[in-house]
Amino acid sequence: MRVLGIESSCDETAVAIYDSTQGLMAHALHSQIELHAEYGGVVPELASRDHIRKIVPLLTACFADAGCSREHIDGIAYTAGPGLMGSLLVGASMGQTLAYAWDIPSIAVHHMEGHLLAPLLEDQQPDFPFVALLVSGGHTLLVNVNAIGDYELLGESLDDAVGEAFDKTAKLLGLPYPGGPELAALATQGDPERFTFPRPMTTQPGYDFSFSGLKTFVVNTARKLDVVDQQTKADIARAFEDAVVDTLAIKCKRALKALNINQLVVAGGVGANKQLRARLQTLCESLGGQAFYPRPEFCTDNGAMIAYAGSRRLQHNTPKSTTIECHARWPLSDLEPIK
Ligand code: KG4
Ligand code: ZN
Repeated sequence: MRVLGIESSCDETAVAIYDSTQGLMAHALHSQIELHAEYGGVVPELASRDHIRKIVPLLTACFADAGCSREHIDGIAYTAGPGLMGSLLVGASMGQTLAYAWDIPSIAVHHMEGHLLAPLLEDQQPDFPFVALLVSGGHTLLVNVNAIGDYELLGESLDDAVGEAFDKTAKLLGLPYPGGPELAALATQGDPERFTFPRPMTTQPGYDFSFSGLKTFVVNTARKLDVVDQQTKADIARAFEDAVVDTLAIKCKRALKALNINQLVVAGGVGANKQLRARLQTLCESLGGQAFYPRPEFCTDNGAMIAYAGSRRLQHNTPKSTTIECHARWPLSDLEPIK
């Protein structure tokens, strides 16, 4: 089965063609980083307008790259949420319109299920069950994954998502948007011994997270100093990244041990963070298992993960609904297992 995937939930317009026999055939992406950079964050109205401008050229490029045409497409998968409503509507209406015009089934894909399944696009794949740590700009979820669609939410962030905490802390340090990768790069120059930040909610039981207090810690640390020079910023970035990585690792270890599982999937934009990847790999190896990641470009938003998630679902169910489905909020646990 060959599926066209469309992603437009936030600030990336992305499309891909995935074939269940041949694998990923092509993918194309346009990032809106430059468009939003001067505002220091995503401006929803600008985002949706830009999706409209970019989606058709991206589809054309993707088909050309895959060397196939619409007659070869068996289904369409589009991100239906969670995300920015105006942005979601662009990809969802395009997906549903093409499916109607080409008389093929379409499927509404949960953006976080896309992230969760992205490691299955790689050669090295986990077996079910596994634990998934989903760390993006909007979500921090720890999930027990029994099968595709069979998700038990173990814990989540009670306030800022990890990516959001990276972005806000980076902004406080004067780094450009989106701050996560910039902060991580700066942290490599930092002295790990100079500051120690708290590991929030690690001394209490459970799997929930809270990252908003770390921002306050950054502000208070900087306020107590006479001079915040470039080296100090790097030292703060390092202390912040160490605290986040440590906190995530503590909760992952707790979940893996409690469930007696030694396979961990890490996905979502923050999954591209090198320190986090190395730390969680070491953790899983110490438990006799392995950590699984998508390649870094598929950690952040992309069309391949949506085409893949859609193809897995369309192989079991080929709905012919013409409703354009969009949900700004959509709990992952609302999804149905594939039968
Ligand atoms: O998954 P994603 O592309 O979009 C959402 O679904 O939200 O994640 C974007 C987030 C941003 O907050 C970005 O700063 C963060 O992922 N991010 C990183 C790194 N690369 C992206 N955070 C830390 N280290 C990185 N290397
Ligand atoms: Zn995402």
